Amino acid sequence: MGKSDFLFHFQIRISISSVAMFLLKTWRSVAFGIYGFKNFTKKGFLEHSKNFSSEDMQARIEGKNCIVTGANSGIGYATAEGLASRGATVYIVCRSRERGEAALSKIQSATGNKNVHLEICDLSSINDVKSFASRFCVKDEPVHILVNNAGLLEQNRLTTSEGYEMNFAVNVIGTYAMTELMLPLLEKAAPDARVITVASGGMYTAPLMEDLQFSSKEFNGVEQYARNKRVQVALTEKWAETNKNKGIGFYSMHPGWAETPGVAKSLPDFSKS
Ligand SMILES: NC(=O)c1ccc[n+]([C@@H]2O[C@H](COP(=O)([O-])OP(=O)(O)OC[C@H]3O[C@@H](n4cnc5c(N)ncnc54)[C@H](OP(=O)(O)O)[C@@H]3O)[C@@H](O)[C@H]2O)c1
Repeated sequence: MGKSDFLFHFQIRISISSVAMFLLKTWRSVAFGIYGFKNFTKKGFLEHSKNFSSEDMQARIEGKNCIVTGANSGIGYATAEGLASRGATVYIVCRSRERGEAALSKIQSATGNKNVHLEICDLSSINDVKSFASRFCVKDEPVHILVNNAGLLEQNRLTTSEGYEMNFAVNVIGTYAMTELMLPLLEKAAPDARVITVASGGMYTAPLMEDLQFSSKEFNGVEQYARNKRVQVALTEKWAETNKNKGIGFYSMHPGWAETPGVAKSLPDFSKS
């Protein structure tokens, strides 16, 4: 085979594999969209909620210590309020003192629960998560529930002061560092401890990749978010395996499609539709 024949065959193979990748990606997105419209909308929620047990929905959780990250807004706020309304002690972890204080007083007045506390931590910084953890661990209290909710979909490729791509820093490193550093306090609550990581069905649109910081090709925030959410689910499986027999349950979940400030900012077209 001559040099030009080889190049010709090589180019055809590259085109076939690009077409296959494109088709796979399109298939993933279409399948996710169809499944989502059936299951992740309000209609889907109402349908699934018929199977909720009323006993579970009314459970009281006084004496349980819960941490909810990203609790000043959207799903995290609703989660913190729900836990507080059932009597738990709730620590809301927010990066902005102003937004955190506003959420704190709203939750306290809506639920009448004064055992709600604000902790300031920017999850895009490993150093900040470490200093939150060392402050918090001094309390030496068991943590029954850690909700890793804080997350973002940043469309532009931003780099944190510690040198990481921003989506990856918050969604993956922040979640990882928070969970690892809370393990000793979670163990104190065993066998009643659980870590719930708010992932996303959006992960189905992207495979698990080695290129964690999206350095290899033109940056796409939506794809990076999907990759990060895959990693969160993979991490959850890993935590469950490495911490088995410790009495801590590790769960990842998709919250459905909720109209939140985050969605309005990051996906305005999706938010309108
Ligand atoms: N809404 C949906 O349809 C949907 C679907 C699937 C999955 N999710 C997941 O649900 C979770 C909550 O999202 P949401 O829709 O409720 O969005 P949201 O309203 O934007 O809430 C995200 C929360 O995370 C906080 N956060 C972001 N970056 C942070 C950082 N560096 N340090 C500390 N906190 C930070 C935000 O704080 P600021 O207010 O200070 O920015 C906010 O409180 C996310 O993990 C998201 O991926 C949402």
